[in-house]
Amino acid sequence: MRLDVISASDRLTGGNAVATTLGLIGAGRIGSTLAKLAVAADLEVVLSNSRGPDTLADLVSELGPKAKAATVDEAAAADLIAIAVPLGSYGQLPAAALAGKTVIDANNYYPDRDGRIPDLDSGAVTSSELVQRQLPGALVVKAFNNIDSMRLGKLARPAGAPDRSALPIAGDDPEAKARVAALLDVLGYDAVDVGTLADSWRSQPDTPVYVRPYFPHAFEAAAEGNYERFLNFPGVAVPADQVKELLGAATR
Ligand SMILES: NC(=O)c1ccc[n+]([C@@H]2O[C@H](COP(=O)([O-])OP(=O)(O)OC[C@H]3O[C@@H](n4cnc5c(N)ncnc54)[C@H](OP(=O)(O)O)[C@@H]3O)[C@@H](O)[C@H]2O)c1
Repeated sequence: MRLDVISASDRLTGGNAVATTLGLIGAGRIGSTLAKLAVAADLEVVLSNSRGPDTLADLVSELGPKAKAATVDEAAAADLIAIAVPLGSYGQLPAAALAGKTVIDANNYYPDRDGRIPDLDSGAVTSSELVQRQLPGALVVKAFNNIDSMRLGKLARPAGAPDRSALPIAGDDPEAKARVAALLDVLGYDAVDVGTLADSWRSQPDTPVYVRPYFPHAFEAAAEGNYERFLNFPGVAVPADQVKELLGAATR
């Protein structure tokens, strides 16, 4: 096979003919942005939410024939699954359906939204360790949590582009991390390995790599309720070396 005709699916499956499908549990801001990037990369997507497939008809029609809506268990049957739900609902994630799967955890802990979770408040575990605890048979990899959904959509660039950004990934299984890095690559990002899920505190909210490098005025815009700024700011490219530096500068 010539290198220049390897499709996104081939790159994710090591060159075999199996079509690669991204399952999404959660189809809000982050889930729908990931779905758009995946469709643009010629992947199939299966979207799910808490209210059922019928409520996703508009989004699926906007995404086109590569997308379909399904139940959470059907989305969990995809080759790779990304979870993008409010963390407070982690206890409802389908452990049996996700056993053996590589599962991307894009979630963050916001107590005002998610309710108090003592093990996170005490720092006993990271939020991704909590998700891994809920999904004991899955290979959880944290990714896509440290960039706001609009910049995630706007900053994607092809491999080798001079203004390509990088995102941190963390996980306990090296092969699962490699699969997620391959997904980032086809979606438009380089990956920087943070380490294990225990190390993933380095990309949680309030760390140097969290949101601001890609959108310096994100929190001011949110506080002002300045939706125009959210919508229009193109984002700042953050290359891999800078992501490494920012991860190294995190303290707790
Ligand atoms: N927004 C961002 O810029 C951003 C950036 C990075 C990370 N994150 C993190 O990503 C996660 C999702 O954020 P978001 O902003 O995308 O949220 P959102 O726009 O509110 O969307 C949440 C999605 O999760 C679904 N959902 C909720 N509970 C569910 C359950 N038990 N099973 C299946 N689906 C369920 C919702 O479906 P229904 O509508 O049917 O309930 C909805 O589709 C959060 O943990 C957030 O902290 C967000």
